[in-house]
Amino acid sequence: MPHFKKLLEPGFIGPFRLKNRILKMGSTLGFYPWQDGHIQQEVIDAYENLAKGGVALVTVGAAPFGVPPGRGYLMDDDRFLPDMARLAEAIRKHDCIALVQAFHIGPMLPPFLRSEKLEPVAASSLRKEELPLPFLSPPRGLEKGEIKRIIEDFVSLAVRAKKAGFQGIEINAACNHFLNTFLSRAWNKRDDEYGPQNIENRARILTEILEGIRSENGRDFLIVVLINGAEIGLKDGITPEESRGIAQVLEKAGADAINIRAEFYFPARDPSRKDSTHFPDVALYPEPPFPVKGLMDERRYGRGGWVPLAHNVKKGVSIPVIVAGRLDPLLAEEVLEKGFVDFVYLNRALMADPELPKKLLEGRFEDVRPCTGCLTCFDNNERGNPPLCQVNPTLGKEKALEVWIATKRKKVLVIGGGPAGMEAARMAALRGHQVLLCDKSPRLGGSMLLASIVKGLEREDHLKLISYYERQLKKLKVEIRLNLTVDRSFVEKVAPDVLIVAVGGAHQIPSVPGIGGKKVLTGKALQEKLRFFLRFFGPKALISLSHIWMPIGKRVAIIGGQIQGCQLAEFLVKRGRKVWVLEETTEVGKGLPEVLIKPRLLDWLEAKGVRILSEAKVKRIHEKGVEVSIEGLRDEFIEVDTVITALPLLPNERAVKEFEGLAPEVYAIGDCKEPQLIVDAIAAGFNLGRTI
Ligand SMILES: Cc1cc2nc3c(=O)[nH]c(=O)nc-3n(C[C@H](O)[C@H](O)[C@H](O)COP(=O)(O)O)c2cc1C
Ligand code: SF4
Repeated sequence: MPHFKKLLEPGFIGPFRLKNRILKMGSTLGFYPWQDGHIQQEVIDAYENLAKGGVALVTVGAAPFGVPPGRGYLMDDDRFLPDMARLAEAIRKHDCIALVQAFHIGPMLPPFLRSEKLEPVAASSLRKEELPLPFLSPPRGLEKGEIKRIIEDFVSLAVRAKKAGFQGIEINAACNHFLNTFLSRAWNKRDDEYGPQNIENRARILTEILEGIRSENGRDFLIVVLINGAEIGLKDGITPEESRGIAQVLEKAGADAINIRAEFYFPARDPSRKDSTHFPDVALYPEPPFPVKGLMDERRYGRGGWVPLAHNVKKGVSIPVIVAGRLDPLLAEEVLEKGFVDFVYLNRALMADPELPKKLLEGRFEDVRPCTGCLTCFDNNERGNPPLCQVNPTLGKEKALEVWIATKRKKVLVIGGGPAGMEAARMAALRGHQVLLCDKSPRLGGSMLLASIVKGLEREDHLKLISYYERQLKKLKVEIRLNLTVDRSFVEKVAPDVLIVAVGGAHQIPSVPGIGGKKVLTGKALQEKLRFFLRFFGPKALISLSHIWMPIGKRVAIIGGQIQGCQLAEFLVKRGRKVWVLEETTEVGKGLPEVLIKPRLLDWLEAKGVRILSEAKVKRIHEKGVEVSIEGLRDEFIEVDTVITALPLLPNERAVKEFEGLAPEVYAIGDCKEPQLIVDAIAAGFNLGRTI
């Protein structure tokens, strides 16, 4: 049983004693319908739930400047004081320190939010060709008077926050937001005292904000400053040494703690696609774009990737240093134990399981629901939607989705141990029902298990989630029968009160001449093969073995270019195959997280020589390859050794029909009803398990 001695140890930041070392990183959870700038009750409930889960400190997601009203909530006026006070109180009543994060979006103002009154601004005016990110609109460099007004905005937000009951503020001067454009030589071309001539000048805007807040709010107000530990891959970007120097200046100016992340700039073959990220796990996906040794910890595919940069800063300051970035409890404990940082900020791990600290405190590590790293939350957030987590269906809907013990104990039979079936079984058992869960495979997980063999465990890890379900179902005394194909007579024998059909979707087999040929591996056949091998090997062993041997030729055509086809292409390229992706529609990569993952994966596949053809209709599969009609305009013959179908599933109407009327209550959920993503399957299982 792992211990979490360091994580659970109290510590001090400034004058405040924190009950443990686990802090909730400032992040918008998602967006609720606009209420004239007022903080929505759901936001307050979500933060209260996080505080209740046992974190020592919650930083409330960004109160932004430099964006027009209309999304999220505001804190830039005293009329929001009562809302802010309710939010601070909801956090503080659980013995949790309440901070608010403030940032100015600066040059990152998206084009659709621009108006005559609102333009992208930065330390300096930059021409298009000088911009670190070519897709941005050139920002206008601010006059000194305008800088002073922004400093005042930060100070008055801190004053308002204190009045409302917040105990501190985090100033976000990282990423490529406004404040960072002063710290970075790539952005800052000024020739006055805010210019790049030395570290003091670069940090001057921040030191003036710090001094302003200190003089208004005094010493008993916590100030954390979030800065880039480096701008990796950016010419004239912040270096680790400079970051340490900036932190030293901030310490002198009165900061209580420094929070370190990095901004990672991808080299893109097409400059218009050049992008950056502050997620270390995304930085290295699908593989490191250049050698990163010495800049980040690349050993665990980005998990804890920014720790060396934070450690570098810690060596130069005496105030606490905090780091975030794909940390889980085990890694966080290790990082603290080695003295690399003083506190850890967790974000996604706490969104996936807000009770994580409490569970560690109670010695229930095995009950922590792991974040899979899927980034559904971020993708959803970027689109302006309400909070959404793949594994935690209640995130942001805590009050609406409260769970109650069932009034009548029922006998529940769940057919299918995929994400929908496992979650339905877990919820039903949690509420007191007697549950039997059956699956035809040797292991639980359904399509999620098979998908994780293809996806691998580097960026996303669904095996950990399956193990979590296995542990929970066992603890909740769910009876599990594997290697069992359930039929009508079995159901009749069990005679359940509730029958949940979660058998998974039906495979699409395109009706193309030659589809039955020897060189074709359909999605169904592939799944059956994997299931067969799972009888002898664990999924991790299968992943390793696939690097040595697979019954798949050197040149492969994949029929289907949505999420399934693109992830299969990545799998095959990483195993030395030459790949063609043939997508019948105009949209390649549908289902992949749009913002960070899809562009990266498609760019990488192209760089690896994968030919991705949209509007590509397979006309015939021959002995030697596939005949494809492209855009209905021309035909092409592609010589390949293997053809694999990787198409979205279809509803499994036949299976659903088979079980109709076999129990007083019969429900179909998950892919067999409507094939969707894992997030939808888990939500469907949760919603059903919560109500039966
Ligand atoms: C949905 C979402 C919204 C975020 N919003 C913010 C934000 O407003 N301010 C910020 O500093 N970081 C934001 N982040 C980044 C997180 O603070 C954090 O650095 C990142 O999630 C890495 O930590 P983790 O691996 O523990 O999630 C956001 C992340 C996510 C997933
Ligand atoms: S499981 Fe996915 S959606 Fe949930 S917090 Fe983790 S990355 Fe975000």
